[in-house]
Amino acid sequence: YIGKKQAAPILLRGLEKLEYRGYDSAGIAVRENSAPDAKINIVKAKGRLKALLEKTDCGRAVPGLCGIGHTRWATHGEPSELNAHPHCTDDLSVVLVHNGIIENYQEIREKLTKSGYRFYSQTDTEAAVKLIDSYYKQSGEPLTAISQAMLRIRGSYAFAMMFRDFPDSLFVARKDSPLIIGQNGDGCYIASDVPAILDSTRTVYYIGNLEMAQLTAGAVHFYNIDREEIEKEPVQIQWDAESAEKGGYEHFMLKEIHEQPQAVRDTIQSYLNEQGEIDFSAASLDDAFLKQLERIYFVACGSAYHVGVAAQYVLEDLAKIPVRVELASEFRYRDPLVPENTLVVIISQSGETADSLAALRKAKEQGAKTLAIVNVVGSTIAREADYVFYTLAGPEIAVATTKAYSAQLLAVYALAIAFAQDRGQLTDDQAAALVQELESLPGKMERLLEDEERIQWFASKQIAAKDIFFIGRGLDYAISLEGSLKMKEISYIHSEAYAAGELKHGPISLIEPGTLVIAVATIPSLFDKTMANIREVKARGAKVLCLTLESMAQEAGKTADYVLPIPETHPLLQPSLNVIPLQVLAYYAALARGCDVDKPRNLAKSVTVE
Ligand code: M6R
Repeated sequence: YIGKKQAAPILLRGLEKLEYRGYDSAGIAVRENSAPDAKINIVKAKGRLKALLEKTDCGRAVPGLCGIGHTRWATHGEPSELNAHPHCTDDLSVVLVHNGIIENYQEIREKLTKSGYRFYSQTDTEAAVKLIDSYYKQSGEPLTAISQAMLRIRGSYAFAMMFRDFPDSLFVARKDSPLIIGQNGDGCYIASDVPAILDSTRTVYYIGNLEMAQLTAGAVHFYNIDREEIEKEPVQIQWDAESAEKGGYEHFMLKEIHEQPQAVRDTIQSYLNEQGEIDFSAASLDDAFLKQLERIYFVACGSAYHVGVAAQYVLEDLAKIPVRVELASEFRYRDPLVPENTLVVIISQSGETADSLAALRKAKEQGAKTLAIVNVVGSTIAREADYVFYTLAGPEIAVATTKAYSAQLLAVYALAIAFAQDRGQLTDDQAAALVQELESLPGKMERLLEDEERIQWFASKQIAAKDIFFIGRGLDYAISLEGSLKMKEISYIHSEAYAAGELKHGPISLIEPGTLVIAVATIPSLFDKTMANIREVKARGAKVLCLTLESMAQEAGKTADYVLPIPETHPLLQPSLNVIPLQVLAYYAALARGCDVDKPRNLAKSVTVE
């Protein structure tokens, strides 16, 4: 922050808002005043922000109107004060915070060591600050030094910097890591995500790749890597500040689980025209290309990948287009065959996931058309893809995704209906009936959420489970993958998801007396098959919870130990309802085990590094 107000409390508040992204240490640097010889005070603390708040007396002990702050998630070197940011030169001529990874930091470090620089931390960031300083010592000009360093550095970075001799400015530079700049009458703000500054301003600039900016209390100037000034228009963020607060819920995750009906409602509405038909003209999907479309790749990570798995069933069934689903971390490092007339769909809540972004670029290199299904407006993936469908889930704070996942599923349904109609696989009436069914989902989700206590009771009985297996067939398998990820990421209970038919090909040997199996059996045509699998695991001592349709609950109760009935919808849309009890179950299991639900260990909300 640089402006009229005390910087430290603003920095600490901003860091608090981004706590959900995961971190292990934090630090701030604040310039005492704008005299050329004014001191820059740096305070760092290992662990939670609370430690930094205590050390700085909530910011009061570090006065000044200009400063930078950072929470670190260790990549190079252990979590420690020494490795925490800001990093600086010995003479404090440059002070810097960094998100991203400098790939050639060893080489830079060795060269700088030979020319007299000393290194204290194990971080890649220290190489960056000292490299910038080495150029600065030659030119005496920050933007020249930064741009020279940008040419030398390989990797990803969002840098925010203070130069001792430029008391009235902050500098930033960016490549591949998220960075936004906000402005209001009180000053200018730098952040890696919108919630950090939402209570101060909604006027935001997105800084592009290999661009720099100089911020003063009253203005922001943007430059390309050749130091030519470039114009940028500010964007108004629509999210309100309350949507990034807990609003009376104990955790963001529970709040976001309950926001799903609204997220789905808003997302559907955004895809419908006045006649109530799905209309993607706003995304300028090219009609001629769509007519020639021969296959679709869905590429994503984590839960977004699980949406892709569901998308494969839905699109092949409804639109009869061959679909392939890939993990972005795999896609980016192989030589995928992306023939002509292929659409590559990247799904990402944050729009900043490093692997998904790299996969998007790979797809473009191969000549594919790309479509991004993204939640964060203006994020890098949204900006680089040929077409964008936004999900309207609002800010998602809990590390475990819930409402963004549901909104992504919705986007996939809308895409499938539109493509199916376009290709003559659905009549207008059939499409209208499906849209009507989509519109009924939020109400059914609300009904499911009213039954939360039953799931809470079940979760409290299972907290001692050592292993949980999720099984299902078809779309129930896609949802099992998501249920299992939710469970393991927040409750730390080991869990795996298997296509139920795969059990006898290996995993069944893991079933022991007392093992918990969660079977998702909501597809009538596959019900008997999954019941047979339940009998097999029960014969080996497993306890089984079965999620099934209300109409099949009685029948399932004859085989499973516990049954959770789910309201019915069109079979292809059923995952939207099935996922909710699994999210709630994971939440209450984590709560009962005393886990940090919103910020599970070792995880970050946006995985912007590899
Ligand atoms: O922001 P993205 O959707 O690209 O994130 C992808 C994954 O990192 C994310 O879904 C992750 O698996 C979640 N923590 C799951 O709850």
